Amino acid sequence: MPATIIMGGQWGDEGKGKLTDALAAEADLVVRANGGSNAGHTVVTPQGTFKLHLIPSGILHDRVVSVIGAGVVIEPSALVSEMKGLRERQIDLSPLRISERAHLVMPYHPQIDSLEEDRRGEQQIGTTRRGIGPAYADKVSRTGLRIADLMDERILRYRLRTELDRKNALLDRLYGVEPLDYDTVVSELLELAEVIRPHVVASEVVVQDALATGQNILIECAQASMLDIDYGSYPYVTSSSPTAAGACQGAGVGPTQVTQIIAVFKAYSTRVGSGPLPTELYDETGELIRRRGNEYGTTTGRPRRVGWFDGTSARYAARLNGVTEVALTLVDVLDTLPEIAVSNGYRLKGEEIAYPPAQDSEFAMVEPTYQTVRGWEQDITGARSIKELPLNALVYLDLIEERIGAPITRIGVGPGREQLVDRPSGQVAIR
Ligand code: IMP
Repeated sequence: MPATIIMGGQWGDEGKGKLTDALAAEADLVVRANGGSNAGHTVVTPQGTFKLHLIPSGILHDRVVSVIGAGVVIEPSALVSEMKGLRERQIDLSPLRISERAHLVMPYHPQIDSLEEDRRGEQQIGTTRRGIGPAYADKVSRTGLRIADLMDERILRYRLRTELDRKNALLDRLYGVEPLDYDTVVSELLELAEVIRPHVVASEVVVQDALATGQNILIECAQASMLDIDYGSYPYVTSSSPTAAGACQGAGVGPTQVTQIIAVFKAYSTRVGSGPLPTELYDETGELIRRRGNEYGTTTGRPRRVGWFDGTSARYAARLNGVTEVALTLVDVLDTLPEIAVSNGYRLKGEEIAYPPAQDSEFAMVEPTYQTVRGWEQDITGARSIKELPLNALVYLDLIEERIGAPITRIGVGPGREQLVDRPSGQVAIR
């Protein structure tokens, strides 16, 4: 069976981890395609809550092979501490595979990420300061080090010598901070390398072999389409491609091997960090949604910005990614609201526009137009079938589905594994 992609349709934190976890029960392989420890996937299981940053959530299922693909950037110390945390909770790590082609987030990358953010002052991107941008920049500049280098002490020492000289010059002369000590960096990396070594493979070959033998593959993107380096709200984006196309590249599959592209959307909007969020709420409704949705960053703990569902950016993302299905999550967060708004368009300088402007200053100026519907004002966390959802919730789902332009096939009504309502195609309540 070919591959399925799970990706975020908004600005991240849509609940991709939960959906991947749910679908992983039927999968043979789960592959993480992009990003690094900037991501935070929360999965609630009967064994408790797991917060994963680098390791695919497939690891929480016994027989599923979990692959960190070539498109991911790996901070070895973060990976090893995540592995340790999982082992302490009796999670079997033997099915973990790590691409030898994945780039390393080196100790100087988070440092440069932070120093650059401080230098930007008011123009801060609001990065997670995990070194993601600088690591991808080195990858594209062809000066990065990879897992394959970490596996060979001689090559590691050689490549790091040249690179650390360059980075230390930057740290010293541009930022005026202490340079890093070569021997300390090498010895720390070599120690971490031994923990990682048993898991290192040619992950693209593992994935292709699985496809060739008819296995079921899930590809998990971190972040989301509106944070994409090309199509997101540049420069307020991450440095990878969290799109369906990026998922293929990062996991090592061809576009024709993918049959399903499931975009995860929240029933409202959130964003962490700076940049446009046209439907942002600054009032007590926003505060209520933040509190009920526990909208605080998994990786940084920062409060997330909150807004109404943005139909314009959602449709843009759905089209760009060739989305075949939608999972709409956190619908229960809206349970207490008497009225709910959905943005159905943007206006810019008096004109209607159907997609996000490329220039961030213009994107920040767009005025969303809204349609308001009545809330359902009842607890839906116990619903397990579409028939158990109140009429007003179904009206809301239909409205969102129409905006996105792809069928909503799953509805999240709570954080638990079982709190996912299936909505098989065709089972549409109202039209
Ligand atoms: P970076 O990926 O750390 O460089 O951060 C760039 C932008 O992406 C910032 O606005 C971050 O808040 C955002 N970002 C990165 N990872 C995530 C994520 O997993 N969820 C939501 N936002 C993220």
